[in-house]
Amino acid sequence: MLLDVQDLSVEFSTPDGQVQAVKNVSFTLDRGETLAIVGESGSGKSQTVFAMMGLLAQNGRATGSVLFEDKEILNAPLKELNKVRAAEIAMIFQDPMTSLNPYRRISEQMAEVLILHKGMGKSDALKESAAMLDAVRIPEAKARLRQYPHEFSGGMRQRVMIAMSLLCRPKLLIADEPTTALDVTVQAQIMTLLAEIQAEFGMAIVLITHDLGVVAGACRDTLVLYGGQVMEQGATETLFETPTHPYTMGLLSAIPRLDTDGEDLATIPGNPPNMMNMPEGCPFSPRCPFVVDKCHHLMPLLMGERDHRRACHRKVEELVA
Ligand SMILES: Nc1ncnc2c1ncn2[C@@H]1O[C@H](COP(=O)(O)OP(=O)(O)OP(=O)(O)O)[C@@H](O)[C@H]1O
Ligand SMILES: [Mg+2]
Repeated sequence: MLLDVQDLSVEFSTPDGQVQAVKNVSFTLDRGETLAIVGESGSGKSQTVFAMMGLLAQNGRATGSVLFEDKEILNAPLKELNKVRAAEIAMIFQDPMTSLNPYRRISEQMAEVLILHKGMGKSDALKESAAMLDAVRIPEAKARLRQYPHEFSGGMRQRVMIAMSLLCRPKLLIADEPTTALDVTVQAQIMTLLAEIQAEFGMAIVLITHDLGVVAGACRDTLVLYGGQVMEQGATETLFETPTHPYTMGLLSAIPRLDTDGEDLATIPGNPPNMMNMPEGCPFSPRCPFVVDKCHHLMPLLMGERDHRRACHRKVEELVA
């Protein structure tokens, strides 16, 4: 097992009180496997992985356990974390411009990583950087290496980010909505690229997305977050074929399908919860079509086997419209 996350919680101190952004999230990931974390905006997806990587904002605190290759990395000393972050776990952020320096050529930014972390000489580092741009299918890699970030289109910039994240051959790649800022065709190309790169480099991937449409076929396991808590998790195929949580059902019926013209696309009525003012009981209860009294008072336990767990008071057979 590559990654073993147990009871990960994240709390923020704010002037208006404590905000529990993530609560008791657990999952495991094997080498070379892919896990999707899905949920609407604000459900705690990014904070879950930020906590793992020691990247929470100043006012955030993480508890629980994150074992990477059997070593505890949650709240580990910065020196240890830096080693892991540079060479073993790479991360691609929601907006590539936040991690690229606009004033420096791609060549400098990429080569620096290799010089710093792999002790390479400059000319080797440049060669390897060009090879990596080539690996993410950027045409004329050598020439493009000399360019600045703004000279790349959004899709190409995301490819540069992927190339950068691969430089140290990480065992785990965390991709936080790598395609959100891109148009649909480019999104599909990036997803295909990630799958190809994964096959080539054999790394594990945690893919964060609010788009369930990109998950099927791409990720073995899926974890569905709502209001910072796991609603349902397990094998993607099982979840997609027989979702057993009203929230997953809602998300699935909101995926555009090619065989309908999109007119009768369902959306889940209502808005995600306000973290400052979380409903009691199950966070989804105010929007749940199957809500019963108990749901307003008591968060159901997450129950089931590794391949399929759910947190819902209602029996599966009761969930028919
Ligand atoms: N520094 C902070 N202080 C207080 N609350 C915070 C802080 N950072 C994040 N939060 C809260 O944590 C919650 C979860 O945020 P997170 O960034 O994980 O959402 P997300 O699922 O990644 O959403 P999105 O799809 O929009 O990126 C949000 O409600 C957010 O307001
Ligand atoms: Mg996010």
